[in-house]
Amino acid sequence: MDYKFFMPQTSLMGPDCLKTAGTEIAKLGFKNCLIVTDKVLNKIGLVSKITRMLEENNISFSIYDETSPNPTVTNVNNGLKKLKENNCDFIISLGGGSAHDCSKGIALLATNGGEIKDYEGIDKSKKPQLPLVSINTTAGTGSEMTLFAIITDEERHIKMSLVDKHLTPLMAVNDPLLMIAMPKSLTASTGMDALTHSIEAYVSTIATPITDACAEKSIELISQYLVRAVENGEDIEARDMMAYAEYLGGMAFNNASLGYVHSMAHQLGGFYNLPHGVCNAILLPHVQEFNSTVSAERLAKVAKILGGNIEGLSPQEGAALCIKLIKELSVKVGIPSGLKELGVKESDFEILATNALKDACSLTNPRKGSKEEIIAIYKAAM
Ligand SMILES: [Fe+2]
Repeated sequence: MDYKFFMPQTSLMGPDCLKTAGTEIAKLGFKNCLIVTDKVLNKIGLVSKITRMLEENNISFSIYDETSPNPTVTNVNNGLKKLKENNCDFIISLGGGSAHDCSKGIALLATNGGEIKDYEGIDKSKKPQLPLVSINTTAGTGSEMTLFAIITDEERHIKMSLVDKHLTPLMAVNDPLLMIAMPKSLTASTGMDALTHSIEAYVSTIATPITDACAEKSIELISQYLVRAVENGEDIEARDMMAYAEYLGGMAFNNASLGYVHSMAHQLGGFYNLPHGVCNAILLPHVQEFNSTVSAERLAKVAKILGGNIEGLSPQEGAALCIKLIKELSVKVGIPSGLKELGVKESDFEILATNALKDACSLTNPRKGSKEEIIAIYKAAM
């Protein structure tokens, strides 16, 4: 199989790498920035760290801080309006997946025109997006380094998946000192999102030795550091290692794509406006149970990386151990036990399953499911 691998041109990692980001951005010659973020990050002072960094490098800026947790078409359009009004020549997204995805939408429309729904699907744009520097404040979505963007269409109540090489940020910044403020529940759900990326990429139909290596190391780091990061948000080593874990997970799924956990979670997020990481964490063991008839050997390897003893176990038994360990980790970090707790209704499963099968992430799930089988997975996750 011929193979392409995508990631940002520059990635900065480690405590205090935000300082280096300032000088690197200045070297690129940008003059006028649109900062895309949300009100909470503005209120707690993270945005002022970015504006100070820009001032020190003589770069002017405007701020769009109205990104929703599940960014919408309206968010993208309003951000684009602000970008045009202020003649910005690049964007900094500050936040987690929401800010990065919203920024990708704005940056793509800034150079390609049209409406964001025109780019739903795979590689629909003609031109590179406006340069984007993604500064991450969570450790999970991987959006600071991927070519994926998920935008909610409020009219259709669905999440659109945009998969486009032009969406890759120019620079990704993962400074763990910016992640200390993340509350426990967000640390847990974003960390479980990262685990989902790595496991779905690992069992994907287009996994390669490169994505396998990224996924394996990512799972190992999550298994060592997620609980520590949740228990003590100021544990810099745990925050730093979780940033590496989520970045590695991003490298894996950016190139091996995902599977049914994400296609099913996207529908829940779009329909009920639920947090992405929580939906993934709940669905992950149930989808892997479905996959285990074809991916048992790979799931048994995941069990071993998660610290399980697979000696003497058959691949099926190893896969069952993997599913058990995922559930135990979810409980340890405080993820709700089922979809019922989130207000999900069985009467919606028909439409959710229909749309999940149309989601781009379904293409690479290792076992193909019928609508009835997807409904059965949703039911099991209640
Ligand atoms: Fe995700």
